[in-house]
Amino acid sequence: MNDKKTVFSGIQPSGKITLGNYLGAVKNWVDFQEDCRCIFCVVDEHAITVRQEPAKLRAQTFELLAQLIACGIDPEKYEDTVLYIQSHVPQHAQLSWLLNCYTMFGELSRMTQFKDKSSKYSDNINAGLFTYPVLMAADILLYKTDIVPVGIDQKQHLELARTIAQRFNGVYGDTFTVPEPFIPKAGAKIMSLSEPTKKMSKSDSNENGYILLADTPDVINRKIKRAVTDSEALVCRRDDKPGVNNLMTIYSIAAGKTDEEIVKEFEGRGYGDFKTAVAEALIEMLRPIQEKKDYLLQNKDHLEKIYTESAKKAEWLASRTLEKVYRKVGFVAKGK
Ligand code: TYM
Repeated sequence: MNDKKTVFSGIQPSGKITLGNYLGAVKNWVDFQEDCRCIFCVVDEHAITVRQEPAKLRAQTFELLAQLIACGIDPEKYEDTVLYIQSHVPQHAQLSWLLNCYTMFGELSRMTQFKDKSSKYSDNINAGLFTYPVLMAADILLYKTDIVPVGIDQKQHLELARTIAQRFNGVYGDTFTVPEPFIPKAGAKIMSLSEPTKKMSKSDSNENGYILLADTPDVINRKIKRAVTDSEALVCRRDDKPGVNNLMTIYSIAAGKTDEEIVKEFEGRGYGDFKTAVAEALIEMLRPIQEKKDYLLQNKDHLEKIYTESAKKAEWLASRTLEKVYRKVGFVAKGK
């Protein structure tokens, strides 16, 4: 199409979008639209590796699409951006099956997310949970992706996608582009507010641990006030201050300030003032996103038009890769 780099990333519709998802991934996706071809996907097929309530999954998918557009992912403004739903493009599942045959059992057994999730959902350790990273590799490799912007928790999966691509290329000659991760310097791992040594996660049973993009100002104020810090009353970044470090990261991105500026601003002041400032900066950052999301959700036809047109473009690109891969492994081409 053109010589722009291709960016691919995905997000699960398995709950509401958190501040971690936004700062670690989505905020960076927005910037890539300026000079890259961007393919963004709501990965509903990944979401069902954990049991979902059907009506809820459907509603969450719509809400996530609206939220992503409200954050600035905009296929109407950027003609090289697409935003679609994974299950609308069948090539993801098709390539995933094929890549399963080029991925080793041992490699999948070593995935830390599989180990974590299989202990968390011990009553449902299904094969999809195990082969989850292969579907992720298929997502990425279908589009000749150069760059994959993600939070640090996805790094191991990205490395496996690279290994699978290299292995396939080694056997059949140059087929897949080997993707590079893009992990932001600040925000790659936003921590839980209540247990700041753990990742902020939407599946946390304690809702004070995470901020949702949809949280009201009152809720944001309350959660930030309750955020775990320490007893030193000193705003600075240090290894033994995980709670303060996390709030500094959040504040630094939301208010656009450096660590030095933050340390200076709160010199001789307690955590109370600091937390008020963090909450205010967050509320201001999220206000326009929330207003836009509410507006978009009222107009589902418009959302449908966006994801349908995007899926058509994605399917066209994906089908070309899949045909090539089928040919390489020796499948007989369909008759015309
Ligand atoms: P998911 O839906 O769990 O998260 C979406 C993105 O948010 C990032 N993230 C975080 N970043 C910083 N701090 C946090 N606390 C935090 N929590 C989540 C994640 O790293 C991710 O970038 N498997 C993926 C979805 C996926 C995908 C792909 C991503 C499917 N196919 C292909 C990239 C390429 C996932 O579950 O993300």
